[in-house]
Amino acid sequence: MTSPAELAEAFQSLYGSRPRIYRAPGRVNLIGEHTDYNDGFVMPAAIDFSTSVAIDARDDRRIVIRSENFSEPVELDLDQPPARGRGDWSDYPFGVAVKLEGTGQRLRGANILVRGEVPIGSGLSSSAAIEVATGFALLDIAGAPIDRLDLAKVCQQAENEFVGMRCGLMDQFISCFGQTGHALMLDCRSLAHQLLPLPENVRLVVCNTMVKHELAASEYNARRAECEESVRLLARELPEVRSLRDVTIEDLERTGGELPEVIRKRSRHIVSENARVVAAAAALQREDLKTFGELMGESHRSLRDDYEVSCEELDLMVNIANQAAGVFGARMTGGGFGGCTINLVAADSVDIFKQTVASGYAQATGRVPEIYVCTPAQGAERVA
Ligand code: GLA
Repeated sequence: MTSPAELAEAFQSLYGSRPRIYRAPGRVNLIGEHTDYNDGFVMPAAIDFSTSVAIDARDDRRIVIRSENFSEPVELDLDQPPARGRGDWSDYPFGVAVKLEGTGQRLRGANILVRGEVPIGSGLSSSAAIEVATGFALLDIAGAPIDRLDLAKVCQQAENEFVGMRCGLMDQFISCFGQTGHALMLDCRSLAHQLLPLPENVRLVVCNTMVKHELAASEYNARRAECEESVRLLARELPEVRSLRDVTIEDLERTGGELPEVIRKRSRHIVSENARVVAAAAALQREDLKTFGELMGESHRSLRDDYEVSCEELDLMVNIANQAAGVFGARMTGGGFGGCTINLVAADSVDIFKQTVASGYAQATGRVPEIYVCTPAQGAERVA
């Protein structure tokens, strides 16, 4: 855990002034994968890993940023903003600064020190955490009001246009709106959302495969393009369809024969996954963890077989988890191609669950997994 006092001291010895400190969390997604950019439903929770930003205003319009994970400082001149990132970690915070200015905000230059605790490349959204923490901090030191929804959207826009990753809104939204003890069901079309308390007797256990396959970013954008292609094809027969959110399984069965096989499978995942999120929210509300867990299992199989974004390590991790004591459900979480699984586990079985998964996975792969027992956490804030 980052001690704000330590971070402030590190900042002071680098830049010579006292900073303000902000933080924003990473997330885990309980169910609803790849549905966000299809106007669908998702159910993430913010986790107790966050990225902290220590910041102090400068007299000019330059942003100088350092991360404790990367030694060299990087600079951005707000008066000469580049159109795109340069392909390194600073693209995330700088993209947010550039896009905030693009909305008409007048930012101040700043010195920044970043401390990231969200494991990078693990599918827990370290990118949204640094985006939201930086955006929140830059607005606040400029004296601008913070509208969390606008901030989440600007951060998504930065990632889409400045970084070049065509992500949906889920990660930035939950990093802004997470509430302690709650998962959040979000309708990505209307942006209506509902907080769902997590029952006392379960834990969210996140298991890290410790692998991240190269294709994650390119395949992500490819999936998104396939969904768009599906909408284009389906709309010829179903003119009211604007996104896969508007399509039912019956529609797919009726008209799907004309879709190319790959597009049909991708669409089937999105359409069935949306239905699973709705069912899962109802199950959670009546504390029916058995049903919730079964839906997680179906989600994983659909991501593996129809959407094809899982990988050997994720499948293995899920299979081992499914045989462990006290587990209600297990699935990959996030974009896929490595990263983490999310497991819903009875509170009194967490220790044995961790041992089973850790030893089973290490035996099969030679890799020691990291396992985090997460408590749903609060969204972005200024730290006292
Ligand atoms: C990444 C993206 C999200 C979402 C998930 C998959 O985390 O940033 O917008 O699409 O993948 O559900």
